[in-house]
Amino acid sequence: MSDNTENRYLTVALGKGRLADKAMDLFESIGFGCEEMKDKKSRKLIFVNEEKKIRFFLAKGPDVPTYVEYGAADIGIVGEDTVLEESRNIYEVLDLGFGKCRMCVCGPASAKAILDSRRPIRVATKYPLIARNYFYDQKSTTAEIIKLNGSIELSPIVGLSDVIVDIVETGSTLRENGLEVLEEVCDLSARVVVNPVSMRMENKRIMSLISDLKNAIR
Ligand code: PRP
Repeated sequence: MSDNTENRYLTVALGKGRLADKAMDLFESIGFGCEEMKDKKSRKLIFVNEEKKIRFFLAKGPDVPTYVEYGAADIGIVGEDTVLEESRNIYEVLDLGFGKCRMCVCGPASAKAILDSRRPIRVATKYPLIARNYFYDQKSTTAEIIKLNGSIELSPIVGLSDVIVDIVETGSTLRENGLEVLEEVCDLSARVVVNPVSMRMENKRIMSLISDLKNAIR
């Protein structure tokens, strides 16, 4: 992906799922759509817009910053949660304003007392770096962080941890499992990230694309 000809394709990595759908609507609104991508039954992972010399690929969200850091993608669209957790050498250039949610410490109401007492606490999460930074750096408390890969809300219910650090969007997963938000870590939304070398080599095209995206979300 590093040919430097005039005809080089810009490559955009999209985090699979809701963010990718919204991102593609946005790209379509600025004339960078990809008809093929609308076929929901397709298992295809790479889509090309020949006219605009741009291609999109669908990756697992947490892998998007990796593709961008290594230059396999020039640009990535990914949640701020992933940007923070992956902590890669990439530029974060634009808040797209959709995919809004919050990173929170959640648990049963009874766990509030442990948080307030500042006693060591057990925390389950898909986001160990974010959790560690929050408990150790922001709150200056001790926490045992347990990494899980999904269905995090289970953890305090079955006694694996006192609390969880997880994304809260509508709050319905918490409500339906008898848990609540105990503390808020940060607000999150979808971001545009760029490979630092691409930013130099393809500056004009990338800046023009970012400017079009900015105007479209205004
Ligand atoms: C995410 C997150 C919460 C849920 C929050 O999980 O980890 O479980 O969504 O959304 P809500 O506030 O609207 O209920 P996801 O659906 O990505 O699945 P996972 O549990 O496998 O991570």
